[in-house]
Amino acid sequence: MSKKTATDGAKPCVVLGISGSIAAYKAAEIASALTKAGVDLRVIMTASATKLVQPQTFFTLSRNPVVTSLWETPEWEPEHVAMAERAALLVIAPATANILAKMAHGIADDALSSYVVSHDGPVMVAPAMNPRMWKQAAVQANVEILKARGVQFLGPDCGIVACGDVGVGRFVAPAVVVNAVRAQLEARKLAAALAADGVRFKKRRIVVSAGPTREALDPVRCLTNRSSGKMGYALASVAAQAGHEVVLVSGPTALPRPAGCRIVEVESAEEMAAAVKAEFAKADLLIMSAAPADYRPAHAAASKIKKSGAALTLNLEPTEDILGSIAKSKKAGQKVAGFAAETERVAEFARAKLQKKKLDWIVANDVSRADIGFDSEQNEVEVHTAAGATIGMPKMDKLALAARLLALFLRG
Ligand code: CTP
Repeated sequence: MSKKTATDGAKPCVVLGISGSIAAYKAAEIASALTKAGVDLRVIMTASATKLVQPQTFFTLSRNPVVTSLWETPEWEPEHVAMAERAALLVIAPATANILAKMAHGIADDALSSYVVSHDGPVMVAPAMNPRMWKQAAVQANVEILKARGVQFLGPDCGIVACGDVGVGRFVAPAVVVNAVRAQLEARKLAAALAADGVRFKKRRIVVSAGPTREALDPVRCLTNRSSGKMGYALASVAAQAGHEVVLVSGPTALPRPAGCRIVEVESAEEMAAAVKAEFAKADLLIMSAAPADYRPAHAAASKIKKSGAALTLNLEPTEDILGSIAKSKKAGQKVAGFAAETERVAEFARAKLQKKKLDWIVANDVSRADIGFDSEQNEVEVHTAAGATIGMPKMDKLALAARLLALFLRG
C-alpha cells in the first residue's frame, strides 16, 4: 500500500514505542535527540510504561501528543492507523518480553501492539529485561520469529541490570538507538537516490576502516592522532542500515558501536593492516577512512620510560601504507575509496594520492578548518575519481554525507 507521506517531506516520521521496562526513562534521551535531529517523532506508550515515566515528558520532548490508549483519539481515524500511513520507521525502545511476545504472535490489545500490526515499514527493537527472562526459551523463540521477519535487534547488552543481576538483557546505550534510527533514515535516502538512477539493490560486502591507531612507546604511552572515527562509523552505520554486509575495522574511539556491523577492534597500524587485508580479501568495497599512523616508535620499551631531566629523542620507523599494499593485491571488480586529510593544497595532494595508491575514489577534506573534519559532526568534501572527475559535496552532517558517498561508491 502506498503511504500518504513518507520521508520525502520536510521531516521524516518515526514512531517510538515505549514499553514497561525500568529503562523507559532512557527513552527520554532518545526522544530528545531524535527531535533535535529533525525527526517528526510520534510516541506511543504502553500502560506499564506510563507508570514509570509520565507521558508529559515525551509530549514536551517530541513536541507531539503522546498516544497511551486506543480510546482517547480526537480524530475519526484511529491514531495507530493514521500514524502507520506516515511513519518511515518503528522503533520500540525499551522492548519488554511482553511486547516481543505480542509482536511475534500478532496480538493487538493496546495502542502500541495495535500500532505494530498496522505498521508495514522497517522495525527496530531494543530489548531490556532481566537476564533470566531474556534467556527464557519462550522469549528466545519469539526473538527468532521476529528476526526471521526482518525485525532489527539493537542489543540487549551484557552487564548489570536494574535489579542487580549480571548478564545479557541490559538496554543498549540510548546513543546506539539514536544512531541506528538516523542511519536508517539516511539509508532510505541512499536507496531512493540509487533507485532514481535505475541502480538495482545488490548486497555488497563492505569493509570500512575508522579512527586513529595507537603506536606504543612503552606500556603506558603511545603516539596517536586526532581522528575521532565519526566519518567511518557514519559510513558503516548507513551501509549496514542499507542492507549491506559491513565489517568495521576500528582503531580506538569513544563512539557507540553501530548496529548491524561486525566490528574488528585494532590498536596499532600493524594490526589495522592485518585486519583490513584479511577482510578485504572477501569484500567488494573498501572504504579506508581511518587515519593509521605513518610512523611508529622503532622500539617500544617493555617497562615505563622514566624521566631523566635530559632531552629525549624518539626514533621512529615507517608503518606499512595499507592502501598502497591493497592496490597491489586488488582483484578485478574490487573497489577502493581512500580519504585525504590535508591542511593545504587539498585537491592537488588528494589527486596525487589517488594516483599513487591506485584508488577508485579519494575523498578530500581540509582538516585545518575547525568546523569540519576531525572530531566535528559535519564535513565538507570533494571526491576525486579515477576517471578524472571532481564531485563537490557541501557541508553537511556526517551521516548525510555517508549516504551521499555510498550513493557514489555503490553506483557501479
Ligand atoms: N593510509 C593507509 N595506511 C597508512 C596511512 C594512510 O592506508 N599507513 C590511508 C588512509 O586511511 C587514507 C589515505 O591512506 O585513506 C590517505 O591518508 P593520509 O594520511 O591523508 O595520507 P598519507 O598517505 O599518510 O600521506 P601524508 O601523511 O604524507 O599526507
